[in-house]
Amino acid sequence: MRNVEGMSILITGGGSGIGTDCARRFCEMGAQVTISGRRLDKLEAVKAELGERCHIAQGDVTDQADREAMLSAALRHGSGKLDALVNNAANMYRQPVDGYTEAFLKDAFDTNVISAMMLSSMAVPHLEVTHGAIVFIGSTHTRRAFPGASPYATTKAALEGLTKVMAAELGPKQIRTGCILPGAVSTELNLRAGLFTANEAKDRYDAVAGLHALGRIGTGTEVAEGVEYLVRAEWVTGVALEVDGGIGLGASNF
Ligand SMILES: NC(=O)c1ccc[n+]([C@@H]2O[C@H](COP(=O)([O-])OP(=O)(O)OC[C@H]3O[C@@H](n4cnc5c(N)ncnc54)[C@H](OP(=O)(O)O)[C@@H]3O)[C@@H](O)[C@H]2O)c1
Repeated sequence: MRNVEGMSILITGGGSGIGTDCARRFCEMGAQVTISGRRLDKLEAVKAELGERCHIAQGDVTDQADREAMLSAALRHGSGKLDALVNNAANMYRQPVDGYTEAFLKDAFDTNVISAMMLSSMAVPHLEVTHGAIVFIGSTHTRRAFPGASPYATTKAALEGLTKVMAAELGPKQIRTGCILPGAVSTELNLRAGLFTANEAKDRYDAVAGLHALGRIGTGTEVAEGVEYLVRAEWVTGVALEVDGGIGLGASNF
């Protein structure tokens, strides 16, 4: 396993939720971590907690100039190198099949897929030098079908496909890839999408807890442990790793 201490790691969407928990974990382990996102106040709050090891790069992952700025910031903070890119930024996109709108679907793929593809592409020359890793955050939505969530699920399925092809293509450069498939974690994701309010969140997560074989939702820290594994494991590439409390099993008491 590679040592995280001294690594330079760029985490998109690090201003909240799972991205923040990844940033916290890697900072505690001695990495130089750069987090990005659109809301400066969220990024600054994380930096205030994590201190000098955490650097912020405000920006939108769908904007090429912002992506370049994120990568440059990570390279500066990491003394010129990059060891890992964690493509974590995403939104929840729900729309019924008989109500698709083209702009909505394009936004879903632009944000959740194309941004990660472009950032990964730009990171390749730097990760080749460090024999680094690209981590995608997929979802249990590719293991269980949630009606109404096909736009989101298909973006996450695309990331799993990317993980495999990139692993094969970038393996000769000694760049590894991996995709974490989290189960339910209480974050801002569904709140930002307007699926339920903060007041309703507890009941909603209580309701979904029983779908997990382990009977509870997870924490961002538990997902970050999986991300850490994929960044460190030197003979693991192209994998989809479920960190999901068993929700992806689709178990039913028949
Ligand atoms: N929570 C779950 O149950 C769950 C389950 C499976 C997978 N996931 C995945 O886990 C990852 C993290 O989500 P989360 O649950 O931690 O939700 P979250 O707290 O909403 O985090 C998502 C982050 O992405 C950022 N983001 C969204 N669009 C962006 C854009 N265009 N440019 C830059 N940053 C952008 C957001 O920051 P700004 O709005 O400030 O830009 C936000 O900080 C996502 O890939 C999500 O699909 C979550």
